[in-house]
Amino acid sequence: MRFYRDIEEKLNIATDSQITRSRVISLEARYYMWNVIAKETDCEIIVDLPCGYLPNCLKTARLKKKYYGLDLPIVADEISSIAFKHIANSEKHLVQYHGVDATNYASMRTALKDVQGKICIITDGLLGYFNRYDLKAVCKNIHHLLREFGGCWYTSDSQFTELMAITYAVLTGGNKNDILEANNAGVNRLANTDNSDHVFIAGTLEERRHFLEECGFSIKSFRYSDKLNSIPSLRDNPALMERIISAYQEIEEWILTAEGTKSAEKQELELPFSQDLSLKDNVLSIRICGRLDTITAPKLLQKYEEKRANIHLQK
Ligand SMILES: C[S@@+](CC[C@H](N)C(=O)[O-])C[C@H]1O[C@@H](n2cnc3c(N)ncnc32)[C@H](O)[C@@H]1O
Repeated sequence: MRFYRDIEEKLNIATDSQITRSRVISLEARYYMWNVIAKETDCEIIVDLPCGYLPNCLKTARLKKKYYGLDLPIVADEISSIAFKHIANSEKHLVQYHGVDATNYASMRTALKDVQGKICIITDGLLGYFNRYDLKAVCKNIHHLLREFGGCWYTSDSQFTELMAITYAVLTGGNKNDILEANNAGVNRLANTDNSDHVFIAGTLEERRHFLEECGFSIKSFRYSDKLNSIPSLRDNPALMERIISAYQEIEEWILTAEGTKSAEKQELELPFSQDLSLKDNVLSIRICGRLDTITAPKLLQKYEEKRANIHLQK
C-alpha cells in the first residue's frame, strides 16, 4: 500500500513503518489463508495459479497433496529449477510446474492433462492484471476446468485491498474507507492508470459477486476470521493479533464452484490458435486464428523469423 504525501497528510495517519507493517501483516494473513484453504479442501490436488516464486509446494507436500504450480513460462521454469532442489526425493512425484497463460485455456488444460480427481485452484495476486475482457476469459477458463475436474476455486484477490485497509485502520485508528480511497488514488497515480472500472479493484462486493455469477460460478461465503486464527508474527502481541483477527470478521470471502450453476452464458472458449504465414512477391501475409498471448505470440515470432531472411525491405 503506497500513499502520496498529500494523501497521507489528508488522512493524518501514515508513517512509513505503519504502512510497511500493515502490508506485511495482511500479506502474512493471505499466505496463512492459502495454507488453510489447501489443508481444508477435500481436493487432493492443489493448483497454485499463479505460483510466482513462493515455496507453496513444500507446504502441500507436507499435506501429501499433489501440487501444480502454474505461472507464465519464464516464472514456472525458474521456480521449478529452484524448488526441486529443496523437495525431498520421496515427495518429488507430488510436484509439477507448468508454464501457462491464464487467459489461454489450452495452456492450462495441457498443464493439467494427467490430473485425475477434483482440483482446488488457489489464486493469490492475479486478477488485478487484466482488463475486463481478459478477466472474463480467465474466470471462464477456471470455471471450465472446474466443470471438467470438479473441485473449487478460492481467490484472495477479491478482498485483498480491504484486508490491507482494515489492518491499517486497526494499527493507526484510521477510517477503513478513507484508506481504501487513498490506496486506489495512490495506485492509479503511481501506475498512471485508471482502474475505476476494474471490478476486482474498484468494484463493490455485490458487483464482484454479480460478475462471478455471470461467469457461471456458485458462491459459498465465509468470514475471513472464521478460518484465520493466528498471525504468527504477532504471537508476541496477542492483544493486537486478536484485534486484527476480530476486525477481519467483516471481510466476506468466497469458495467458488461450478456445481449446479445456471451459467446463463454458454461456455465459449477461444478457438485453438493457428497461424499461416506466406510470402509471395515480397509480400508477407499472416493469418491467425485464436488468441495472441504469452504462449502463442512467440510461435508467431518464430515463424516470422524463419521467413524474414527471404524478405527484402525496400528503401
Ligand atoms: C503478484 S504475483 C503473485 C504470485 C504468488 N501467488 C504470490 O503470492 O507471490 C503475480 C504473478 O502472476 C503471474 N502472471 C501475470 N500474468 C499472468 C498470466 N496471464 N497467466 C499466468 N500468470 C500470470 C506473474 O508472472 C507473477 O508471478
